[in-house]
Formats: sequence, structure tokens, C-alpha cells
Amino acid sequence: MRALVIAEAEGPSGLQLKEIEAPQPQKGELLVKVKAAGLNRADLLQTLGLYPAPPGYPDVPGLEFCGEVLSGGPGFKKGERVMGLTPAGAFAEQLAIDCKQVIKVPKSMSDTEAAAVVEAFSTAWDAAWLQAKVKKGQRLLIHAVGSGVGTAAVQLARAFKVVSVGTSRTQKKLDQSGCDEKVLVEEPSSFASRCGAPIDVCLDLVGGAYFAETLEAMAPRGTVMVVGLTAGPSAEVPLRTVLSKRLHVIGTTLRSRGPKERAALAQGFTRTLLPLFKQGHLKAEVGVVKPFSEARAAFEAMASNDTYGKTVLTW
Ligand SMILES: NC(=O)c1ccc[n+]([C@@H]2O[C@H](COP(=O)([O-])OP(=O)(O)OC[C@H]3O[C@@H](n4cnc5c(N)ncnc54)[C@H](OP(=O)(O)O)[C@@H]3O)[C@@H](O)[C@H]2O)c1
Repeated sequence: MRALVIAEAEGPSGLQLKEIEAPQPQKGELLVKVKAAGLNRADLLQTLGLYPAPPGYPDVPGLEFCGEVLSGGPGFKKGERVMGLTPAGAFAEQLAIDCKQVIKVPKSMSDTEAAAVVEAFSTAWDAAWLQAKVKKGQRLLIHAVGSGVGTAAVQLARAFKVVSVGTSRTQKKLDQSGCDEKVLVEEPSSFASRCGAPIDVCLDLVGGAYFAETLEAMAPRGTVMVVGLTAGPSAEVPLRTVLSKRLHVIGTTLRSRGPKERAALAQGFTRTLLPLFKQGHLKAEVGVVKPFSEARAAFEAMASNDTYGKTVLTW
């Protein structure tokens, strides 16, 4: 089968479409013919050697997919459309995956849309709703609101009647995002005063020099979810602010979760989020679709922050 392989860990230029051995499904796993796969920042980091695939996976990026069952486990028919998350390897023509970790794709969703929803919506939902427990009427600060995860968070906020306060360095992305309150960040060390009323929960997708200002913008007993570090992996932390406001700072990641937690995420997605997609309250926000033969260009567009919403690669 063909796969997008990291031949050299030097960024998108080191990617090559190559023939590699197809995976052999183990007991309880489905073999899936991948039709489309969503691109994520983690894939970009992986091409730079900064976020390697977990042990046991080939050096093939790709964290989310949509495809057809080729051979299968209990509860799945050959040809059935499925989508889901994998720790790596979705940028290949075939994928073996535990049948408890996949989600059945509703008829109303195209392959491209299905490949674009699971990582972004699961990340935002798990971080802000399940872990930080943001509530109806509260204020959710979403950094990099035009990102794949950010655009998902805005839709979730609307569906669950949470006030979305989005930041971006680009006015166009702010306008496109439809968030309730928009904060253009020209200088990461001075945006807190423009966030309006204090923030209950922050979905921090950037970290770095934004962090101290994020703490400044928080309400007493607010929660900052550290989810992404596009603005940098280190930050100066004004501990007095953490202490006096009694803030919670929680880090989270999906990729390192084991099979049980992954199965729980898939089941939670099916139970809670899928009905909202079927009813039209949530939708895939796909900015770019490219064939795998043009994958390098798609990675480069993400690296230059030119993308809005999700990028999807198709076979
Ligand atoms: N923890 C997890 O499990 C998990 C899962 C999925 C994603 N993530 C993280 O969540 C974030 C979003 O992921 P994604 O795939 O949705 O990303 P994406 O669509 O590629 O968007 C990332 C956005 O980050 C902003 N950005 C880039 N460099 C920046 C900088 N130096 N300072 C400030 N903003 C910057 C850009 O927005 P503007 O142009 O608007 O500034 C860019 O559009 C990433 O950090 C990713 O690693 C974490």
C-alpha cells in the first residue's frame, strides 16, 4: 500500500509517498481502507522529528481518518464507513484499528467531512467541557480561534450556550470564526484588557508568550487548559496571579492516551457529539482539501498559518 512516509525529519520537504507493508489487523481490530485523513499540527511537528510516532507505529503521520471497513470485527460490516483517531499512521491507504475506537459515519457526512471532525471536536470537547467543565452562560477564551480545534470550540460553545471569546493574529480569521467576542492579538503581552469581562475557562492552543496574559484575563477560580503550544513551549508564569485568583492550570493531550481512554473518547463522541452533527448544530469546517500527491503543499500551508479550519488529504 502507499503511505506518506517521513523519509527525512526536516519538515514537509522530507515527506515521500512510498510503498510500505500493509498492516495486519490483530484480534478485535478492523482493517480500514482510508479514503481521507485530517491534517493536524502534531503531524507537522512529527515531520520535524519533534513529536515522534509512539512505539510500534511506523514513521507515518496522520491522527484521524475516514474510510471503509475491508475486514472486520464484531458489529461492523465490510464496506461500512467509519472514522476515528489513531496515535499515528492514518496517512496510509490502509489502517488497522481496535473496533472499539472507531465511530460509524452518518449518511449525512461526506468522507472529507468525517476526516475533519474527530480530532478537533474531541480535543475541544474533552478539554473545555469534560475536564474544565465550562457551563452554560460562562465565558470561554479560545486562542487561535481560526485553527481546526478553535473553529470546533466556537461551534460547541454556540451549541451549549457558552460565550466564545476568540483570539487570532488575523482579523479575517476572527471574522470567519463567528465567535461572540473577537480579540485581535498584535502583541501577545497585551491582550487581557481587551478580553472584556473575566474568563471562566481558557482553551489555550498557543501557550508561550500568551500565557501570562491569559492568567491576567481569568476570573477567580478559572481554569486554563493547556492544549497546544504554537506560540512556544515555555512561558513566564506570574505565580502571584495563580495563587491570588486560585486558578486551575491543566495540561492535556489525546495522542498519548491508551486503548481504554481512546475507546471512551470514541463512545463519548458517538453518544454526545454525533447527534449534534446529525441535527445540523455542528459541522465540519474544512478549509483545504488536497490529494495525498500534494501533501507537502498542504503541510506547508499549515506551517505558514495560511489555513482556516481543517485541512484534509484524500486518496
Ligand atoms: N493536546 C491535544 O491533544 C491536541 C489535539 C489537537 C490539537 N492540539 C493543539 O491545538 C492547537 C491547534 O491545533 P490545530 O491542528 O487545530 O492547528 P491549526 O489549524 O494548524 O491552527 C494553528 C493556529 O495557531 C496559530 N499560531 C501559529 N503560530 C502562532 C504563534 N507563534 N503565536 C500565536 N498563534 C499562532 C495560528 O492562528 P492565527 O493565524 O489566527 O494566529 C494558526 O492558524 C495546536 O497547538 C495543536 O498542537 C492539541
